[in-house]
Amino acid sequence: MKKILVTGGLGYIGSHTVVELQQAGFKVVVIDNLANSSLDVLGGITTITGQAPIFERLDLRNKADVIDFFKTHNDLDGVIHFAASKAVGESVENPLLYYENNLNTLVYLLQECKAHSINNIIFSSSCTVYGEPDSLPITETASIKKAMSPYGNTKQISEEILFDTCYISEMKSIALRYFNPIGAHESVEIGELPIGVPQNLVPFITQTAAGIREQLSVFGDDYDTSDGSCIRDYIHVVDLAKAHLIAMQRLLSEKNTSDFEVFNIGTGEGSSVFKVIKTFEKVSGEKLNYKVVDRRPGDVTAIYADTKKANEVLGWKVEKSLENALASAWKWEQKVRSKKVT
Ligand code: NAD
Ligand code: WQD
Repeated sequence: MKKILVTGGLGYIGSHTVVELQQAGFKVVVIDNLANSSLDVLGGITTITGQAPIFERLDLRNKADVIDFFKTHNDLDGVIHFAASKAVGESVENPLLYYENNLNTLVYLLQECKAHSINNIIFSSSCTVYGEPDSLPITETASIKKAMSPYGNTKQISEEILFDTCYISEMKSIALRYFNPIGAHESVEIGELPIGVPQNLVPFITQTAAGIREQLSVFGDDYDTSDGSCIRDYIHVVDLAKAHLIAMQRLLSEKNTSDFEVFNIGTGEGSSVFKVIKTFEKVSGEKLNYKVVDRRPGDVTAIYADTKKANEVLGWKVEKSLENALASAWKWEQKVRSKKVT
C-alpha cells in the first residue's frame, strides 16, 4: 500500500483529497497545525472513508519538528503539499507572515524529501500566478506576470523552487494551478470552514442566505463583461481533489517524462458573479440580499482555464456542474449552522 503525506490535510481542499486518496487505497499521513482547520475534520474523513488517516499536529515552520517527522515517517511514497496561508488581503498587510509560512515551509519540506529520497511531490498552486490574462481561456504557457499580491508571489516563487529542485535531483513534481474551488463533499461530512468574515464569494453567499451576513456586496458591475460583473472559473472541490489523486498516480506510475509539470485545474467555463448568484437562488430556493458596490482593488476582470492539458495529458475531467457545487455548498452551510445552534 502506497503511503502519501498530505500537509494541510485537515483544510478545505486537503480534507477532500485525503478522502479521495483513502478511497483509492492509499495510506495517508496528515500534517496540520490547525491554524485554519479543526480536529473535527478528522472525524468527517473517518465517517466518509471508514478509516482515520494518521495525524501529526505539527507546524511546518518549525524546521526541527519537520526533521523529526521525517525520521519517523521515512517510508513515504509521495507528498501533497497544501499547507499554506491563503488570504490575499492579509498577505498585503503582513507579507512576511506569508513568505515565512508559504516559502520556508516548502523549503524545509523539500530538504527532508530530498534527504529521504521521497521523490513525488504535488504542489497547490493557483491561477493567481497569471494575473490579468491577455487571452482567454488561459493556457499553462501564458506568461506569468509580476504577482498582484505577496500571496500570489509565494505561489510563483514556490513553482520556481520546485522547478530548480527537480532539475538537480531525482525529484518529480506537479504543480496544480487551481481556479476557484467551491462546494462540499456530498456526504456533508466535510466542507469549507472559513474563520471570521469570508473573503470568497461562495461562502459569503451561503452565509448571507443563512442570515449570518446581512447582505452580499457585489464588487462592481461596470467590468467589460456581458453583465458587467467579474468572471471566474468555479470548480467543485471534489473534482479538484480527484485531480490530486490522478496527478499522484501519474507521478507514481512514472508516466511523465518531465521533472516538473504544471496543469490548470478548472472547469474551463467562466461564470459571472451575477450568474453565480442566480444559480445559487435557483438551487437553494432562497432569495439573496445583495447590492452592487465599488470594485474590489486587485480583482482581474475575467479568468477561466483552458483545461486541454489536464484533460489530455493528466486524463482528468470535471464531473460536477456549477449547480451541483452550489447546492452542496448550501447543504453544507445549513449543516454547519444547525450544529452551531444545537
Ligand atoms: P485551508 O486554509 O483550508 O487549508 C490549509 C491547511 O494548512 C489548514 O488546515 C491549515 O491549518 C494548514 N496549515 C497552514 N499553515 C501550516 C503550517 N505552517 N504547518 C502545518 N499546517 C499548516 O486552505 P485550502 O483552501 O484548503 O487551500 C489549500 C492550498 O491550496 C493552499 O496552499 C492554498 O494557497 C491553495 N489554493 C487555494 C485556493 C482556494 O481558493 N481555496 C485556490 C488556489 C490555491
Ligand atoms: C470571486 C469573485 C469578486 C466576494 C481568490 C484568490 C485567488 C484564489 C481563489 C488562492 C470576484 C467577487 C467576492 C464578495 C464579490 N485563491 N466577490 N463579493 O478573487 O477570484 O480568487 O480565491 O489561490 O488567488 O484571489 O475569488 O471568491 O474572492 O471572488 O462580488 O463578497 O466574486 O470580486 O469577482 P478570487 P473570490
